[in-house]
Amino acid sequence: MVLRLMPLLLLALSKPTFSLDNGLALTPPMGWMAWERFRCNTDCLNDPDNCISEKLIKAMADKIVQGGYKDAGYQYVSIDDCWLAKERDSNGKLQPDAARFPSGIAALAAYIHNLGLKFGIYEDIGTKTCAGYPGSYANLETDAQTFADWGVDMLKLDGCYANASYYAYGYPAMSKALNKTGRPIMYSCSWPAYIQTPPYDTIAKYCNIWRNYGDIQDNWSSVYSIIDHYGNNTDKFAEIAGPGQYNDPDELIIGDFGITYDQWRAQMALWAIYASPLIMSVDLRNIDPSAAKILLNRNVIAVNQDPLGKQGRRVFKGTIIETYIRELKGNSMAVALLRTTDGPTPVKINRSLEDLGLSVATSYDCYEVFEGSFIGTLSPKDDVSVWLNPSGGVYFMLCHPNPSPSNI
Ligand code: GLA
Repeated sequence: MVLRLMPLLLLALSKPTFSLDNGLALTPPMGWMAWERFRCNTDCLNDPDNCISEKLIKAMADKIVQGGYKDAGYQYVSIDDCWLAKERDSNGKLQPDAARFPSGIAALAAYIHNLGLKFGIYEDIGTKTCAGYPGSYANLETDAQTFADWGVDMLKLDGCYANASYYAYGYPAMSKALNKTGRPIMYSCSWPAYIQTPPYDTIAKYCNIWRNYGDIQDNWSSVYSIIDHYGNNTDKFAEIAGPGQYNDPDELIIGDFGITYDQWRAQMALWAIYASPLIMSVDLRNIDPSAAKILLNRNVIAVNQDPLGKQGRRVFKGTIIETYIRELKGNSMAVALLRTTDGPTPVKINRSLEDLGLSVATSYDCYEVFEGSFIGTLSPKDDVSVWLNPSGGVYFMLCHPNPSPSNI
């Protein structure tokens, strides 16, 4: 009797209660999203090229291919808020604004799929989206099925117009509803951004990525406040991140209007260190070539996409500089030195590799990441000596153990 029950018992013990096992986001997702750059512009009469519409989303998808972003790894093309009609249809299903999405969402998804890209959509767990369009409250299963039927590949589920007590039920319920459709849909939750003490273990079970801070704005104090928030929670956030589950510090604003060239580089470097989703929000039709070059930088992207999926940590916060370090496969390390203070002039910083947190190997082959230039073979006691520009100047370095780990 006992023997006959054994296999059943083992099965019951080994079966997880539930976990989001959709095989997606094994490395941080990469793509484009409408929100930070295009907001809730619904005025297609006066601004036909920039309003939230199928025309805009198709134009961006085309540019993702033509501009080389697809080849560099950018994949998801995502609508944000303000795509919906003000009411559900007569069957209670979501429908897009008919004037701005005349071909319908399934056709838009098909257009994006034909380009070899994936299509992302936005909804909200509450009664309304943040901009006031119909939310998914009380319609989670219906909406999940609608998204799957349309060919949606990613859902960003916001948290406006909901009671705080509802998130712990609603976000997992949508996760299960998405899984039930049988279509792999990458699931981005805003859950932790809306509550004081997020239950990260649970969140990571149900969501692929999650926002944990306020919306990024097109200025340095906003970008730095996010970097700093991640620094202040460095262990907590790093511990929960990994393949299939990443913290999301919000969109890349590289190429927009409000921050400098140095600060663009700083955002890209820090998002790589933090294993963050790389979701651009910029007008790819007229992007500054130097911004495009940063977004397309294969070396930085390779750091971001390291297969271990370990999120980096802030290891030093001084009055002038901060240092960040991320462990990569093969005991390699990515290190960012960030100058946070204002001008007036560049400052010279000397730090030994050991001070920066590199002391595992006897020596390292180090490269500057943006240029891919060889710095030297350095022992942990050796100094790196770099100039950092004011307010966002960054030095980004990648060091491989020498000899490589297989020879150690
Ligand atoms: C919230 C989200 C943003 C964006 C807007 C849309 O503020 O955090 O990322 O989706 O809603 O209304």
